Formats: sequence, structure tokens, C-alpha cells
Amino acid sequence: MNTRELQDEINRLKKEKNICILVHAYQNHDIWEVADYVGDSFGLSQKAAQADADTIIMCGVRFMAETVKMLAPEKKVILSNAIAGCPMAEQISVEEIQELKKQYPGHTVVAYVNTTAALKTQCDVCVTSSSAVKVVKAIPNDKILFIPDCNLGSWVEKQVPEKKFVFVKGGCPVHLSMSTNHVKLVKEQHPNALLLVHPECHAEVTAMADFVGSTTEIMSFAKKSDAKEFIIGTENSIVQHLQFECMGSGKRFFPLSKTCICQNMKLTTLGDVYECVQGIGGEEITMTEEMRLAAKRSIDEMLKLG
Ligand code: 13P
Ligand code: SF4
Repeated sequence: MNTRELQDEINRLKKEKNICILVHAYQNHDIWEVADYVGDSFGLSQKAAQADADTIIMCGVRFMAETVKMLAPEKKVILSNAIAGCPMAEQISVEEIQELKKQYPGHTVVAYVNTTAALKTQCDVCVTSSSAVKVVKAIPNDKILFIPDCNLGSWVEKQVPEKKFVFVKGGCPVHLSMSTNHVKLVKEQHPNALLLVHPECHAEVTAMADFVGSTTEIMSFAKKSDAKEFIIGTENSIVQHLQFECMGSGKRFFPLSKTCICQNMKLTTLGDVYECVQGIGGEEITMTEEMRLAAKRSIDEMLKLG
């Protein structure tokens, strides 16, 4: 089968079996084309809560599929590739957060959604890159313990100066591979290009940007902008997706770094998605009802405030 035939077969099977395919923005474009919804972490959790399907296939990484299961417990939830995880999700253990909570009493524990379900049970509210500022502003406490992404945390801190933040060491190894040297180099080659970055980047890189936002926000900014050239400071698939979406507009997109590739996001192939719709691939996400309810509180709080 070629790509088009495989996509047709996936579309036929998903209709026949009432399956919804949710796709994170970092997935490859051939997977985007069979999606019912493509978006950032916040959009994906909203869609998971609303999805009217018997089965949801989450093409992304494990914490995303876990979030879907928390919000849609009656549905069968499949992670597209069983070994696709986010290394940041496991940077802090349950024991460590319990210690930190003793060390910082009276703080609201804000967790980036890139965390395990077990860790979410210990947190007050989750945030995503697109909801973090709004959610943190709305928290009725000015003492915030922010885990595990210090760079996202310090970007939020700049926009919510009225609150006091404690950060715990952590971050995304993919975004942290981009430095201010990359910015200087690519800016020399494309002096008129706007720099659009994800808040998981180093604070020094974020400080040089013309726009900072989630994957979806970066894409909408580039699509709406009158500018013609853009340097993309996030996973490189966004360069390719923007090329597709802005075809014919004369806009040009350049990666900030050649190596900004999330190997975990790239594990899922169109073949994996085909096996998932056939009912023979991926991994079905299960969790105890106790764990689900305890972890879901922080997601519900985010959806309420964000
Ligand atoms: P977004 O919420 O921007 O999609 O980010 C998810 C992620 O994992 C970024 O590395
Ligand atoms: Fe995790 Fe970074 Fe990959 Fe996003 S890009 S899934 S934060 S490792």
C-alpha cells in the first residue's frame, strides 16, 4: 500500500468503528492528514473531554493518552506507539514532590501537563504552554510551586510578576538543545525573519524571540502575520506543517536548529496508526479509578481556570 491507500483505509476503518484520532502538532504530516483533530496539549484535552466516539487513538506521547483516559474514562483510549514517552514527565518522582510540599507549605503546586498520572495526583492544578499564564493568574494564591519545567515557569513568572514562584530543576531536552548561538547564526542568514519560539526554550532564547507560544499558537501567529520569513524555535515538524498550511503565500520557514527533533513524538508511524484502527496496535491505557479521579482534579482545575 502507498501512503494515500493507507490513509484511505485508516479513514474507512475509523468511520466504521466510530474511532476518533487525536494528533499532537509534532506528529508527521501523513498522520495529520488522518486526524479528527490536531492541536497543542490544551486543545487535545478539551477535545478528549468532548469526543463522541467509542475509541480514541492518541497520536503523541504517553502523558497525553493518560490525560485523554482521565477525561474520557468510558472510552477505549489507545496510545499510538507504546514506547512513546516524554522524558520531562518523569523528571520528578512522587516522593520528591511530597518532600517539596513539606518544604514549601502554603504553596499551590502547579504542574506542567507533561507529567505522569501518578505525579498529577500530588498537584493542585495543571497547565499547558498555552494556558499557563491565564491559569496561574487565576489561582487565588500568590505562592506558586512550579514543576517540572523551569523555563516555562520563568516565562510565566515574567508575565505574572505579582506572584512568588519556586521552581524545581527540569525541562525538555529537545528544546534545551537550542541556544542563543543558534539564534545568532540563523539570524545572520535570515536577518528579516521573525523568531517564534516555544516557552520550553532556555529563558535567554525566549528573551530574543518576537513571539512565544505553544505549538498551535506559533502556527496561528505565522499564518496571520504579514511577515514573510520565520525562524521556528520548536520541534522541526512545525516547519513542515507551516509550509503545507501557507503554501502559495510566499512565506518561508526556517528551523532554529537542525537537531530540534523529538524522537518520542517521531516514534509513531502511519503504519502504527493503521494497526491501531485495526485493533492490533498501540497500547490501551488503563488506570485504577482511584488514580484517575485523583489525577483528574488538576486537569479539571486547568480546564476551569484556562
Ligand atoms: P504544546 O502544548 O505547545 O503542544 O507542547 C507540548 C509539548 O510537549 C511541547 O514540547
Ligand atoms: Fe517531551 Fe520535549 Fe518531546 Fe515535548 S518535545 S514531548 S516536552 S521531550
